[in-house]
Amino acid sequence: MRVPIIAGNWKMYKTVGEAVNFVRELAGLVAGVSGVEIVVCPPFTALAVVAAQLHSQGGNIALGAQNMYWENEGAYTGEIAPGMLKEAGCRYVILGHSERRQYFGETDVTVNKKVHAALAHNLLPIVCVGERLEERESGTTEEVVRGQVQGSLAGLTAQQVAGLVVAYEPVWAIGTGRTASAADAQQVNMFIRGLLSDLFDEAAAGAVRIQYGGSVKPGNAAELMAQPDIDGALVGGASLQADSFAGIIKNAV
Ligand code: G3P
Repeated sequence: MRVPIIAGNWKMYKTVGEAVNFVRELAGLVAGVSGVEIVVCPPFTALAVVAAQLHSQGGNIALGAQNMYWENEGAYTGEIAPGMLKEAGCRYVILGHSERRQYFGETDVTVNKKVHAALAHNLLPIVCVGERLEERESGTTEEVVRGQVQGSLAGLTAQQVAGLVVAYEPVWAIGTGRTASAADAQQVNMFIRGLLSDLFDEAAAGAVRIQYGGSVKPGNAAELMAQPDIDGALVGGASLQADSFAGIIKNAV
């Protein structure tokens, strides 16, 4: 039985001042909820204050980061090391988000380096894959996702894969309000699970949690989360309001 995981990717929104009140409000809204893992992923600047608030309030919300470098120290101006994220209280780290691939030159090779580095520092990667609109329209979704999964997870053991989270995020659904249908999302998630079984083993494929991301809202979360191969959501816009994020979380249990 895979425990669903709902992660909120705040991207470059929400100031440090807003973050503490947000997690306090969210905690109140999900206080009685169990059977689902909840993760908030603030900008780097808010990690420490959010970690402190999560620690002081207790409860069932974990901390994640939106990216990291693969070296743990060095002359890499502007970067942040996996050990620094661990020290800040992070349990998860989003890697390979399509916006990192699109705007910052992230590739399957760099994502793979980061996945290995994250695992070496006991951080749990949320590894993002997903096709662009032109790739879906040309019928190459599975070919694209296969390449991303193989490249991003290269060299891992089956045991390491079992503990990962993979997020299928069709690029054309991110921030557009155009959510993939539950059937389409299920089809790709099922394809990813089958691919992981072939690449690693059936036990790992059965254990790994595969999220869907791309315009997840309280109104569509229940149908998406009801799919057998959708084990949670990676949420952008709707994670910025405590009530809408809590609404998605409650639809995942
Ligand atoms: O990482 C999750 C994000 O890319 C999805 O964004 O706004 O479509 O929920 P959104």
